[in-house]
Amino acid sequence: MFEIIKKYAEENSVPIIREKSAEFLFQQVESKKPKKILEIGTAIGYSGLLMLKACDGFLTTIEKDAERVKLAKENFSKYNFLQRVNIVCDDAQKVLEEYSTKGYKFDFIFLDGPKGQYIKYLPLTKLLLNQNGVLFVDNIYLHGLVKSIGPIAHKHRTMVVNLRKFLKTLQEDNDFSSNFYDIEDGIAISVLK
Ligand SMILES: C[S@@+](CC[C@H](N)C(=O)[O-])C[C@H]1O[C@@H](n2cnc3c(N)ncnc32)[C@H](O)[C@@H]1O
Repeated sequence: MFEIIKKYAEENSVPIIREKSAEFLFQQVESKKPKKILEIGTAIGYSGLLMLKACDGFLTTIEKDAERVKLAKENFSKYNFLQRVNIVCDDAQKVLEEYSTKGYKFDFIFLDGPKGQYIKYLPLTKLLLNQNGVLFVDNIYLHGLVKSIGPIAHKHRTMVVNLRKFLKTLQEDNDFSSNFYDIEDGIAISVLK
């Protein structure tokens, strides 16, 4: 599905969701049938297209890189999904704060932005979810580093420490029912009770 976009991403080093994780995301959206989806990290729209194809809901997707937003818009347009998407070009933290202040709610949130910020985004995503809403998080194990017991290279350390905090917080939060999957880079699915 959307092979041309996948190829473009590979050739231009745009990070997009990997194959098995993408299938899993598609299945989750297809079975939950969310009416309102929020994505943090649009890149060029690949995962957004998958989610829009999997259901008939509306997608709000946040991306801070203007060049990627432009390409994402072209890609949503190419597959006739532009009327079911709102692409917000801004910093995710700022947008999440604004949406939670305004009381916006979503049925499904795909968290795929800056990994070191997940711990800061978590309370905001919780506020933004409807009851029984799903938080789907990609890259929770960061190439195995999050589960490794050895020393972590300086350049990854903050990200790994923050991801470990994020996973612990999610696991211990009784308002969520969470499952963790060893698919590719690791996926968490948390349902708000
Ligand atoms: C892994 S990519 C998203 C891939 C996309 N979900 C897919 O699978 O097709 C993460 C994206 O988050 C964006 N990003 C990083 N920091 C951000 C921030 N603070 N606010 C919004 N977007 C951010 C990056 O520019 C990048 O395009």
